[in-house]
Amino acid sequence: MVNKSIPNVASYRIIVLGIALGFTLMGCTLSQKDEKTKFINYFRQGEQLYIKHCSNCHQASGTGLGRVYPPLKDSDYMKNNFEAVICLMKYGMEGELIVNGVQYNQAMPGVPSLTDLEVAEIATYIYNSWDNSRGLVGVKDVGQILNTCNQ
Ligand code: HEC
Repeated sequence: MVNKSIPNVASYRIIVLGIALGFTLMGCTLSQKDEKTKFINYFRQGEQLYIKHCSNCHQASGTGLGRVYPPLKDSDYMKNNFEAVICLMKYGMEGELIVNGVQYNQAMPGVPSLTDLEVAEIATYIYNSWDNSRGLVGVKDVGQILNTCNQ
């Protein structure tokens, strides 16, 4: 009797473990899919907002305009100053600035009405277009950075 019940308990454990593992794997696949959908939504919204608020100066192609408006495409400034870029969308910037070895010095007006989500969407768009590939810029990170901006 005793000998017989031991393998039974063991096989129940295996079944329960198997089911738990199954759910875990399913959960992982689902959340990966959620992340991808979220990225696509942020990117698409960000593109619309970029066209509305930024492309007049930086151009739809991200190349900027001569010595007046700096490029976002291949911008070393963007690569090295992620937090400053989050801040300047909302609060603007002024003073001397060097992008890819070229000097700019013209004030950029910010768009103070942008919400944390909108800044995250624009950031996701500009950081994943024109050869940039940073991945999703999350709204929580943006919120934290915006709290630290010098305005
Ligand atoms: C009225 C024109 C104008 C608009 C609109 C504008 N910018 Fe700018 N932007 C500038 C100028 C001019 C500078 C350089 C500022 C300086 O010289 O200090 C700049 C600088 C930048 C920089 C840092 C330099 C670089 O090229 O990497 C980024 C990033 C940027 N802008 C992104 C944006 C985004 C995103 C938006 C939309 C939310 C936007 N800008 C809207 C004119 C503009």
